[in-house]
Amino acid sequence: MSNSDVKEAQNIHDLRLMAKKRLPKWMFEFVDRGTEDEVALRNNRAAFERIKLKTRVLVDVSKRNQEITLFGKKHGMPLGIAPTGPAGMLYYKGELELARAAKAANIPFTLATGSQTSMEEVAKVVGGTLWFQLYMWSDVRMSHLLVERAKNAGFEALVVTVDGPVGTNREYNVRNGYTVPFRYNRKNTTAVLARPGWLFGVIMKYWLSGGMPTRANYPEGMTEKFTHVSTAERKTKNDSLSWDDLSVLREMWPGKLMVKGILTPADAEKAIAHGADGIIVSNHGGRNFDSSMAPIEALAPIVDAVGNKTTVIVDSGFRRGSDVVKALAIGAKLVLVGRATLWGTTVGGEAGAARAINFYREEISRTLAYLGCRGVDDLSRDLLDFVQTPHLPLTM
Ligand SMILES: Cc1cc2nc3c(=O)[nH]c(=O)nc-3n(C[C@H](O)[C@H](O)[C@H](O)COP(=O)(O)O)c2cc1C
Repeated sequence: MSNSDVKEAQNIHDLRLMAKKRLPKWMFEFVDRGTEDEVALRNNRAAFERIKLKTRVLVDVSKRNQEITLFGKKHGMPLGIAPTGPAGMLYYKGELELARAAKAANIPFTLATGSQTSMEEVAKVVGGTLWFQLYMWSDVRMSHLLVERAKNAGFEALVVTVDGPVGTNREYNVRNGYTVPFRYNRKNTTAVLARPGWLFGVIMKYWLSGGMPTRANYPEGMTEKFTHVSTAERKTKNDSLSWDDLSVLREMWPGKLMVKGILTPADAEKAIAHGADGIIVSNHGGRNFDSSMAPIEALAPIVDAVGNKTTVIVDSGFRRGSDVVKALAIGAKLVLVGRATLWGTTVGGEAGAARAINFYREEISRTLAYLGCRGVDDLSRDLLDFVQTPHLPLTM
């Protein structure tokens, strides 16, 4: 797609629809959907709609600024890129495109363990504020190898994701024929043939430049072909991890350490006690556990418990600048976005990701103006109005 297509998008929802037209069904749904009945996915959005903002009029807001300072470093806006595995499957070398857009906006970019471009390449080719997301595998020594590499490659922070002790139950992946290992069948092949732009613009490009994309960060021993779904799960999931494993990482990692996937004050306290510099309140965008709370609703008690001793970051379901403003008013210091910039990357690489980031920038600026705020420091909970949903009679 060209940059003019990117410019046609007027918001994140438009980018999503454009991405849908671009990707095979199994790829689009892998990015877009949740898990099981998708209650958590819907509730992440509905929770934002339950929160209203109080406007303040006749305040001079002509000079608005959304810069923030995070871990002692200035950033252009209160947004960061969440770790997501498949950017390089959505666009040729998609991680580099996304990282470039993040660098240009002066916001953090988090590279996922499972990405298709290696951490060394992202650091060398792009740079910027780089965080590395770590999964703790069943063989933790393999994960520790990644920690060493991230340190040597100059990543500033390690984001340890802890909200997936076992595999998820994404039934649509099975129905779509998107399984590990990927095996071509009539259904998923038909879906690919229906998207020649993706086939030639992404997959063939890899093919012509040396082979199919792989999980470039996986050390030897992990890259071996998974012959069975359960083998893959046995290797990449670890249901025996404990807080002691975080203490080990704290000793290994000299930079900032964040724990991603916290939803309660008690776990936030434990993360800090085991050496975390920050926590990421997240339900993985509603992709892992369908009965999980919406992070935006879990946020206030967590900020109350630990906000004065750690950096609280949040993600899951943020699609508008006003969503970001709500989280900051509650007390978060930064919001991460996953799908929004993936859709942008799908549609137009760096330009598409930049367009997504720019939607948030403009919408945050507009929301600040309506709230009579000149910057994010002016935000507080006084500006929030929590609307109670009226109880409906059981039979209507
Ligand atoms: C396609 C996809 C892949 C993801 N992969 C990872 C991952 O490898 N590691 C991780 O910690 N989170 C992963 N996430 C979760 C994101 O980091 C983030 O928590 C989530 O996308 C936020 O919700 P949003 O997509 O509604 O913004 C992934 C999310 C998506 C959509």
